[in-house]
Amino acid sequence: MTAEGIGKRTVRDIPVEGEHVLLRADLNVPLENGAVADDTRIRESLPTIRYLVENGASVLVCSHLGRPKGERNPDLSLAPVAERLAELLGQPVAFAEDCIGAPAVEVAHDLGRGEVALLENLRFHPGEEANDRTFAAVLATMAHVYVNDAFGAAHRAHASTAGVAAFLPGVAGLLLEKEVRYLGSLVADPPRPFAAIVGGAKVSTKIAAIDHLLPKLDRLLVGGGMANTFLKAKGVDVGASLVEDDLLDMARDILSRADAEGVAVSLPVDAVVAARLSAEAEADTVPVDAFPPDRMILDVGPATLAAFERALADTAAVVWNGPLGVFEIEQFAGGSFGLARALAELDATTVVGGGETAAVVARSGLAERFTHVSTGGGASLEMLEGRELPGVAALLDA
Ligand code: 3PG
Repeated sequence: MTAEGIGKRTVRDIPVEGEHVLLRADLNVPLENGAVADDTRIRESLPTIRYLVENGASVLVCSHLGRPKGERNPDLSLAPVAERLAELLGQPVAFAEDCIGAPAVEVAHDLGRGEVALLENLRFHPGEEANDRTFAAVLATMAHVYVNDAFGAAHRAHASTAGVAAFLPGVAGLLLEKEVRYLGSLVADPPRPFAAIVGGAKVSTKIAAIDHLLPKLDRLLVGGGMANTFLKAKGVDVGASLVEDDLLDMARDILSRADAEGVAVSLPVDAVVAARLSAEAEADTVPVDAFPPDRMILDVGPATLAAFERALADTAAVVWNGPLGVFEIEQFAGGSFGLARALAELDATTVVGGGETAAVVARSGLAERFTHVSTGGGASLEMLEGRELPGVAALLDA
């Protein structure tokens, strides 16, 4: 993977000593019973926070959590995240009970060099998602420098991810830089042979990414619910499985373009089927030419997994976005976890899109064995579509 820059200034390119820094992180983590259930995104935000602390900045962290739609919602408070952040950082993290106004200004004012504070959920204010200029300007009054490290939210043109850069010099944090570098260079100039594995429920959400990647690919492997539409487009009877009938022509078009461009496409050759989507349902493994009419496809079968492994064996780079089955239910999880194990063994650059795919890799316990596991779901998909993210575009050019 190339080590060239991302075309934007980073936190290393701007003096921060003695400065108040507004650090947008993506601390949108799952909570359970009021506590952080998965702290991956908090951990991934630590290098930039530590860099700023060590370089004498006063670090004012801000983030969204969930989708409170412009209203205060105590269930979506960032207070538990402040606690976890303090534990992981090994130093106190002051918490401001609002992201603007007196609570925020007081916390910002009291923040000394090397100290860290977290502001309450930005999305408690409608101005955040509306990218309201005044809201962005008010956020900016509390700092001298803006650092965007929220890769997971960089596809949103919100006040804290884009608007605020009109009022402060804006640079990339270390996580944002790493994400854009890995995903960007993979899409722009992949080592060959290059394979993409796409899965997940629907083709509609992945068409733009497949379109963009196709000319650079050597192999395209399709699993998950979206494979049903491709199978049906090829004349396979997929029984009661989820299919996007309005996209059958699109699927045919992708298959014929892949053929014309010499991209080898692997579709499932067998599947795990059941009468309903339930942990209690009886599951069977059947070949694609014998799908029972009253069953639905809920995972790829072992023959598909073996074929995928063969297709990946000599690749130099692989990008994986979307699980191969309903991985949340054990009897439909074999394909996704089997693929995670196979990729972990591969001697290749392995990059995993965020969201559900990152969750599979995290649960497999093999995340360390991948080249890069993205913290962004929608954001990583937009990178694979070749789109410039507003949260990156807004930063100062290198
Ligand atoms: C995510 O979880 O993908 C990011 O934090 C963005 O959240 P959003 O989809 O609510 O904007």
